[in-house]
Amino acid sequence: MTISSIPVPGAAAMSDGLDPADVPHRVLASGARMPAIGLGTFGSDHVTPKAVAAAVKGAAAVGYRHFDCASVYGNEREVGGALREIVAGGIPREQLWITSKLWNDKHGEADVIPQCRQSLADLGLDYLDTYLVHWPFPNFHPPGCTVESRSADAQPYIHENYLRTWRQMEKLVELGLVKHIGTSNMTIPKLRLLLRDAVVRPAVNEMELHPHFQQPGLFQFVRDEGIEPIGFCPLGSPNRPERDRTPEDTNPLEDPVIVAMARAHRVHPASICIKWGAQRGQTPIPFSTNPANYLANLKAVSGDPLSDGEMQAIAGIDRNCRLIKGQVFLWKEGQSWEDLWDTDGVITPP
Ligand SMILES: NC(=O)c1ccc[n+]([C@@H]2O[C@H](COP(=O)([O-])OP(=O)(O)OC[C@H]3O[C@@H](n4cnc5c(N)ncnc54)[C@H](OP(=O)(O)O)[C@@H]3O)[C@@H](O)[C@H]2O)c1
Repeated sequence: MTISSIPVPGAAAMSDGLDPADVPHRVLASGARMPAIGLGTFGSDHVTPKAVAAAVKGAAAVGYRHFDCASVYGNEREVGGALREIVAGGIPREQLWITSKLWNDKHGEADVIPQCRQSLADLGLDYLDTYLVHWPFPNFHPPGCTVESRSADAQPYIHENYLRTWRQMEKLVELGLVKHIGTSNMTIPKLRLLLRDAVVRPAVNEMELHPHFQQPGLFQFVRDEGIEPIGFCPLGSPNRPERDRTPEDTNPLEDPVIVAMARAHRVHPASICIKWGAQRGQTPIPFSTNPANYLANLKAVSGDPLSDGEMQAIAGIDRNCRLIKGQVFLWKEGQSWEDLWDTDGVITPP
């Protein structure tokens, strides 16, 4: 996978922004070029759809072209309004990279295509650049639920069922509704099965990645397979929902190594986390509704790189601290969240 820049004619950025041509890009296995940073759009249950849509518009104005959306974020209609304005304002659709995701209660064979069409309608698009299976577990839990919430319909990973969902994802590509399909919250053993059986391979895998959760094994695995790693919670998601907090969690923004580097580079620790992610080879998708923050995040990938020594120092602060543990997706009594993540290298049996 190479990183390069592409010119984006006719879309000069605002004076305090960045020319999108100066934002690095990833070249996917298909040859498509994806901006190497995107704006997250999950409001963590407390940021309103309107505020997220305003951030999407503002981010496009300062040079973002990549937006990470999902139906479960509950704001695709509002984000779609912003995307329509962005295109009407002169940024061609082809210069945008838009992801959406299939939610866990829509894995059924009959649901995948209608659900994708719904996201397209809400986002005001006639195709998506990437459409992901958000989690490998079919279930339902209400928005804003607590960590104890469990779905009566929750199921483990059953490969035959996932494959049935994946066949519908492949159809979306055939239908021209989606350019690339991908996975999210997967593990190596699950991906091995999918790669064995997929007709259309996943182009990307979205996974939690920040200096305190570097997932070196999975990161290397997907890169070796030509799958682009997209890094969610790149700043350690400091404002994540209550259900995603435990007393053991650590905060990469407060890590003394990161803080010292931030001082040396005269930036916020967030910029160091983003530089590290982008230079390592993942595509960070930080969320922000604060214009100064989302601009700083974009600028972090386009100049003043970390040295090899700094990259190595950050490699040394991994705490294996998963923040988005997924407790609400557990499917039976007496389990712990580790059961979702196949930590001993085999898929947890039903
Ligand atoms: N596939 C999945 O299952 C999955 C799971 C989780 C997340 N995601 C995606 O990943 C995106 C990012 O994850 P996230 O939103 O949880 O966490 P994050 O990007 O690590 O952290 C976002 C938080 O950091 C703050 N922030 C952003 N830039 C900053 C800066 N320069 N300085 C100081 N603070 C800054 C933001 O506050 P301000 O708004 O005040 O700047 C926001 O509260 C999501 O929005 C979503 O699109 C995907």
